[in-house]
Amino acid sequence: MNLEANKPTGRAHGKCILIGEHSVVHGTPAIALPAGLFVEVELGDVAAAGLSPEFSSWFSALAQKHVDYPWVPARIAGDLPQGSGLGSSAALSVAALRALDQLKPIAAANLLTWADEAERIFHGNPSGVDVRAVLADTPIRYRRTETGPHIDALAKPPGAWHFQLWITPAGDSTATVVARVSDSLARTDKISELRLAADSIAAAEAALMSGNAAALGAKMFDFHRWLARHGASTTLLDQLVDQARQGGALGAKLTGGGGGGAMIVLAPDADWQPPTLPSQVDIRRFSL
Ligand code: MEV
Repeated sequence: MNLEANKPTGRAHGKCILIGEHSVVHGTPAIALPAGLFVEVELGDVAAAGLSPEFSSWFSALAQKHVDYPWVPARIAGDLPQGSGLGSSAALSVAALRALDQLKPIAAANLLTWADEAERIFHGNPSGVDVRAVLADTPIRYRRTETGPHIDALAKPPGAWHFQLWITPAGDSTATVVARVSDSLARTDKISELRLAADSIAAAEAALMSGNAAALGAKMFDFHRWLARHGASTTLLDQLVDQARQGGALGAKLTGGGGGGAMIVLAPDADWQPPTLPSQVDIRRFSL
């Protein structure tokens, strides 16, 4: 869809969590990568079909306050699939806020605060990682601390990294899966489970930053099992992770909220061809 040039528009890319989704809600770090897919929003008078009514009325009240006119996100374009764990809600909010910024500048701190506010409308109890990853142009390490979010931009990892996103149909909402994983953790030895998650995340970061693809891949498989044990996976995602392993991928795991949606696969090289996948799986590629 082409957006009209004379209307305020804004653009933002999505994100892909390499490792640490869900445990990040409970205080571990998460590592997120910019994955290249983007969303573009044009403001207008009538909300885009399918837009969350709560988000739409929150945005129009904000626009009324900021520019004295109740703009709403009226047209949404781009190649970032919605509801697939790739940060589409954070990207939508950031893109809409960037459109508003064209009409009257928004201070960076306000953009962050407002995007976080919008994420709470979409997800209830977000860790904040999606908004920061959507705003970042490099891989980041994100951690929610008692004093607030802590973000570190990571240097470009050595070597060439070839990732694929295998996008399955969207399933449960992030809020639903976050609640399911939280319940599961509350029913187990939460401290040990989070320590296990944190160890995998630290090892994955060390592997990434030292160019050790096999070691990173092994941690991705481990973390998928951790997520599946706590209710974030689906039968299809589990099957696809097995297929990826059998087909020679170095690593594979669900990415983002889970309950359906996308997985991230670490390919051994740029030419690696994935095994034949079910027709409902869409493949996108990105490299670091
Ligand atoms: C969603 O991309 C990541 C989750 O950890 C939720 C959050 O951190 O807000 C599942």
